[in-house]
Amino acid sequence: MRYGLSLVRQSRAAVQTAARALALLAVALPLNSQGGVIPAPATVAPGTGAFHVDSTVVMQVPPGDRDAAAAARYLADLWTRTNALTLPVRAGEAGDGARGAARAIEFRRRSGSPDEGYQIEVTPQRITVTASSPAGLFYGAVTLWQLLPAALKSGEIGAQTIIDAPRYPWRGLMLDSSRHFQSPAFVRSMIDWMAWHKLNVLHWHLTDDQGWRLQIRRYPRLTSAGAWRIPATVPGESSPKPYGGYYTQEQVRRIVAFAATRHVQIVPEIDMPGHAQAALAAYPELGAIDSHPVLPVSAKWGVHSHLFNLEPATFEFLQHVLDEVLELFPSRFVHIGGDEAVKDEWIASAAVQARARQLGISNANGLQTYFTQKISAYLAAKGRRAVGWDEIMQPGLAADAVVMSWHGGSVAHAAALQGNDAVLAPDPKLYLDHRQSPLATEPPGRISIVSLKDVYDFEPHDAALSEAQQRHILGLQADLWTEHMQTEARVEWMALPRAAALAEVGWSPQQRSWHDFLKRLAPMFARYRAFGINYADSVFGIQTAYAPEGGAVRVTLSNLPELTDAAPEANIRYTLDAGAPNLRSMRYTQPLDLAPGTQLRAATFLGSEQASRVFAAHLDSHSGARRTSHQLELCSDGVGLLLEPGAAAGGVPDAPFAVDIMNPCWIYRGMDLTRGPRFTAAVAPLPFNYELGADAAKIRVGDARTPEGELEIHIDGCETPPVTLPLAPAAMRDEVTVLPAQALPLLPGRHDICLRFARPRLDPLWALDWVEIGE
Ligand code: ACM
Repeated sequence: MRYGLSLVRQSRAAVQTAARALALLAVALPLNSQGGVIPAPATVAPGTGAFHVDSTVVMQVPPGDRDAAAAARYLADLWTRTNALTLPVRAGEAGDGARGAARAIEFRRRSGSPDEGYQIEVTPQRITVTASSPAGLFYGAVTLWQLLPAALKSGEIGAQTIIDAPRYPWRGLMLDSSRHFQSPAFVRSMIDWMAWHKLNVLHWHLTDDQGWRLQIRRYPRLTSAGAWRIPATVPGESSPKPYGGYYTQEQVRRIVAFAATRHVQIVPEIDMPGHAQAALAAYPELGAIDSHPVLPVSAKWGVHSHLFNLEPATFEFLQHVLDEVLELFPSRFVHIGGDEAVKDEWIASAAVQARARQLGISNANGLQTYFTQKISAYLAAKGRRAVGWDEIMQPGLAADAVVMSWHGGSVAHAAALQGNDAVLAPDPKLYLDHRQSPLATEPPGRISIVSLKDVYDFEPHDAALSEAQQRHILGLQADLWTEHMQTEARVEWMALPRAAALAEVGWSPQQRSWHDFLKRLAPMFARYRAFGINYADSVFGIQTAYAPEGGAVRVTLSNLPELTDAAPEANIRYTLDAGAPNLRSMRYTQPLDLAPGTQLRAATFLGSEQASRVFAAHLDSHSGARRTSHQLELCSDGVGLLLEPGAAAGGVPDAPFAVDIMNPCWIYRGMDLTRGPRFTAAVAPLPFNYELGADAAKIRVGDARTPEGELEIHIDGCETPPVTLPLAPAAMRDEVTVLPAQALPLLPGRHDICLRFARPRLDPLWALDWVEIGE
């Protein structure tokens, strides 16, 4: 549901046998004594002593073993970047490195390790990484990197034996490059940080209604026309530049080659028969409206109605497209979409209906089955396997097709029962377009929260399946739908560290420890920082509440319950002199009454480690009196979003607006009306660019009294006669406007105030930025 209301299989037995053997030796998992490895290895058995890493250590690889050399060089590069420690990599036989003074890190082959599995043996004299596969050697290197805390040029890695292998073979992220486009450099950097978490599938969503992003030589209009859209604006705003971009085949080849060095498989997605509007904008004759109108590349979010038709020429087009896709992407898996194909156009089209009669297909779902079968058979003939969103689960689905289950786990369960492989990508649990906390620092996205802990607590195990059936669950992935991620920095924020939690679910044994994960996260953040990644520190973030207190502002700080419940050692430290908080700063224990003009800086510490960024606030006379849309309650959550003014807008708010686009309405609890306060509101018009189908009729527009509408202030409920503030001063602007202040009635006591808009039409949508109460 986007905007509605409503590999190679791995022998788990082999890992388990190794793990059982080691479990006899293992005492406690000493993960935290180290740099913090994510995902947690399957088994860790502590030894005696420690290996001292410093610049005198050499890395040894077997002569001629290019995979071992690549793994060792990757480790050397990572330590150079995060620890300013550069170690030489030398070819040599086992044990050579121990001669003379040098301590050695050796990479060796071992037969019998599970695919992607590896072992690391740390003794005071030597570290040995062994694996059968290139991926195993690589993952051994990644684990070893994380055993040394970032920033240390030298340090100790405790003696231990790690035997590790993944729980699931498919550990993926989906990147939507259609709704917003990311540069090839970003895609490469994402592949890199995926590899640090042993994530091994990048599902690349390359086509959709809002843009076709892959160069296809045979059909140049797919990118010359289909890759560009005119962004939505508010009425009256001048037309902005086209937005878009695409990946040339040369760029894709380089990205695929890079991904191979990181053991990441790229699964390309060409979405069909729906989510096709950008392709139809380029080639209208492929569409299912018989008159073949020229459509724009869409600048709206939601479920669009335009489908490919079922003519032989259209299948020929799709097959030619897939031919070039297969040339570029060696992956066995090719994703063919299949989601949200609303069948209205097929039902209304005389040509489609004639084709259906000819095929003997009597209903529209049968036509989608026909579509899926034809395309998956084409792929199968080329040695590839079709992957589709779970709408492809229809009778007659090819046995080798993979079902990507987004409507919860039940479709994956059904797929496994009937012998199809499935990947879990449930909406909303693994949909990373949701904000991850209630903090005002969250960027635009869906307002209902998918926290780091929600992802961490996602459990793929389906006890109702037999062991053989469970092997059909290939694994899991989280999806980065980018409607609201306008920048690459925001993609990083939405992805990390939730991708780290996903990685632990997909790789580590089922018994996971949230508290332990939190402790390993702060050291991982240091690595993200070394690479300049804009990760979210939300789980360690600081919630603030302000209230007037005499002439001062009462400031209440808190951490989120998912942190405080699990980690009693979490604490907030603060300064009032503009200095950065550190371990010697005051510890926050109770609300602070602060004079306007005070600079408050605070950060969360986990034990002795600073875990959050520094939160900074400059208190002024408004601080206690103002509430942003985040600090108000939404009246409903039909489609709750965090939004900001359009791309061209100035006046960007401190935090995006919290708004239910189905019903822009907020509750201000407990407003003191005893003195008939002055009420001020800041509002902004936003483009209404949503395709909601029949749900559009459910949107509350209200009964506007003036040509531009009003902000209504209702006291005690949303249906009482309102005080109204005309929106005319804010109309035809794409920025935040402070409306003229209005005196509210004088009433005894505190009251719940309902704030909502009455507008003459759907577009623009109005958002409340903040409201303030004064004397
Ligand atoms: C989807 O969210 N449309 C797969």
